[in-house]
Order: sequence, then structure tokens, then C-alpha cells
Amino acid sequence: MARVYLDGITRQFGSVNAIEDITFEIPDGQFWVLVGPSGCGKSTILRTIAGLEKATDGSLYIGDRLVNAVPARERDVAMVFQNYALYPHMTVAENLAFGLRMRQADHKTIKSRIETVAKSLNIQHLLDRKPRQLSGGQQQRVALGRAIARQPQAFLLDEPLSNLDAQLRDDTRAELKQLHQRLGVTTIYVTHDQVEAMTLADQIVVLDQGKIQQIGDPQTIYAQPVNQMVATFLGSPPMNVFPALYNGSAFQVAGQTLPCPEHLQQRLHPQSGQRFNLGIRPEQIQIASDAFPRHLMTEAAVIEPLGREILIRSLLPAESREHAPVINLQVSPAVRPAVGDRLPLHLELSQLAVFDPATGKNLAID
Ligand SMILES: Nc1ncnc2c1ncn2[C@@H]1O[C@H](COP(=O)(O)OP(=O)(O)O)[C@@H](O)[C@H]1O
Ligand SMILES: [Mg+2]
Repeated sequence: MARVYLDGITRQFGSVNAIEDITFEIPDGQFWVLVGPSGCGKSTILRTIAGLEKATDGSLYIGDRLVNAVPARERDVAMVFQNYALYPHMTVAENLAFGLRMRQADHKTIKSRIETVAKSLNIQHLLDRKPRQLSGGQQQRVALGRAIARQPQAFLLDEPLSNLDAQLRDDTRAELKQLHQRLGVTTIYVTHDQVEAMTLADQIVVLDQGKIQQIGDPQTIYAQPVNQMVATFLGSPPMNVFPALYNGSAFQVAGQTLPCPEHLQQRLHPQSGQRFNLGIRPEQIQIASDAFPRHLMTEAAVIEPLGREILIRSLLPAESREHAPVINLQVSPAVRPAVGDRLPLHLELSQLAVFDPATGKNLAID
């Protein structure tokens, strides 16, 4: 097991930076998740760590060893991809043993290692089968098992669950977490799925367009996103963002007045005529009542019962419905709104995020 340290890693393809100035240090034994939209550079980072891709610039350390010039097979990391890539002509047991055989482990070690791994992944009964006799979930377990059997310095997992159906994905995700708790091997996990990122990570690295946007533990990233991209990428439904104009004493939102809380006045010193994008999470909104005064009037556009709660997509007034800012909120199933109802909303103003419309920076946090 080892720390993994990237210092200013850049990878260019032609004149394009696929990843740019990537710097982070994963302490030994932690589980980090790289998350971001498709094409943001996640796989390129992972492949660079694995040695399948060469960094154009920067230094990469595994443990204390600078590995920029070390070939992939000597880096002692194990990578699992989305498409499991098992050897089709080998049995499960042979697949599990493959990495160890390559490293000339002795017969006894291989046998006992396979037994332990098969047990921990619950695939003992599959050892004599060929990959084509396995379900997708079972194949993915074998691929994970093959990585684990090698006892590498680090696991690199690239969207390992995205080919599984929803139920199996949830189960396997929970098992992965347990497995990590048991083995304690440094793990770098790539996904575009924000739920996987939130549930698995010790630390999340949010990427966009090849650059790091924010690094933090899941709760911090969720509660204190540094910019609008991070704010709207994590969370389902995502944070609501709508334009506002400061009029000297309050925000104007879709022709309505929204108070600017004292702490934001003091922090931002907003100028009359200044524009912002305001952000608030669905769970920080409720339908206004006697105890919770109305801040914004909206109209219910889509109602989605989810069992435990109801998701309402409501619209702020606008010249055309297509361009009306959407405000998502979650309410108790006891509330029975109908499409077209006017919905007076109360916002937890202390939780407002304020984004600079030009840079996307969250001005409400340090
Ligand atoms: N071998 C390559 N040649 C040219 N461009 C590449 C290559 N690999 C990746 N890219 C580009 O680098 C960017 C990041 O890709 P990738 O790391 O695969 O993103 P992600 O895994 O986040 O979807 C994309 O714009 C992609 O087109
Ligand atoms: Mg990828």
C-alpha cells in the first residue's frame, strides 16, 4: 500500500490539454473518487497513474518513488475497467491467478490467495467457470478479484459499476466500500455518477474540462461548493440556480423581491445594479406558511411522487415558459399539489449560495 502523489500533471493530445496541472496527494489507505462529466479527464488521470499514458508535464509518485519513467507493469498498481476484460479462455480461478503467475508467485501462495479473494467476493462457487458462463455482476467481481489477488500498492477503478443494472450497482457499491474498509488499500475510483462519489469517497476530486475544481470530503463539497459547476454537479436533484439583480437593498428575482440576508450584505457589499446567480438546494426550500413567510411565487409544472417525498419542478414567472428558471423542491407526500397550482416558496436564506455570473465562483463562502 502506498500514497499516490500527483504534482502538476498535465497531459496534452496535440495542442489540447486533456488534463492540466493536476495536483493532489492521496494518503496511504484512503479511498478517493475522481468525478466529473464525460470528457473532463478522469480516465486520462487514472491511465497516467497506471502508466498507460505518459504525462506531458509534472511528477508522479507512488509511495516515495518517482514513477514517471517506470513502465506500467513495474508500478505495482491494479486497474479495473468498466468492461471487465477477463481472459475468455481461462476459468475464473485462472483469471484470478493470472497477475500472480506473471509475477512468478509460487503455487501455494497463489492457491491460498485465490481462496481468500474468492471468499471475500463471494465467488467461491464460480471458480471453475469460464467468463461467458457468468452474469455481468459476477464478471465484474472476478475482475475486482483479479486486482485484489495481486495485493497491489493501489487500486485504480475506472467506472467499474456502470455496466451493471441499478440494483446490482447499489449492492456492489456497498460491497466495495466494505472491501476497502477491510483491505485498506489506497483506491482511486473514477465515476461520472455523483451518488457513487458521495457514498464511497473519503475525498472527492471534482473535475471539469481537464482541471480540478474542488477537493474535499463529500459533505464539504456538497455544503460548500466553490463554484456553480460543483454546486450543480453534486446533488440530485441538483442545486437550483437562478439569476438575480441587486437593487440597492434586496435581490430582484423574476420581478419579485427576495431579501438579501445581513451576512451576505456584509460579505459581498453588493452594488445597486449588480447581477448574481443565486443558488439554493431543493431541501432548503419549503412551501410558505404562517410560520415560514413567502419569498418567491412559482407555479408547479411537474409533480413526481417518489414515495417518501414528492419532487416538484416549479417555474418562476418569465416572458416565455421555455426560459422560465426552474426551482426544484421536495415536499412531504401529505402535500398534494396539482400541476398549474401557484406555489409560494420559503427559502432558507441563510443557506443561499451566490455565484459570480462571469466566473461561476461561489461568493458566499471563503
Ligand atoms: N488518446 C487520445 N487522443 C486524443 N484525445 C484524447 C485521447 N484520450 C483522451 N482524449 C481527450 O481527452 C479528454 C479527456 O478524456 P477522458 O480522460 O477519457 O475523459 P473522461 O474519462 O472524464 O470521460 C477528452 O476531451 C478526450 O477526447
Ligand atoms: Mg472515462
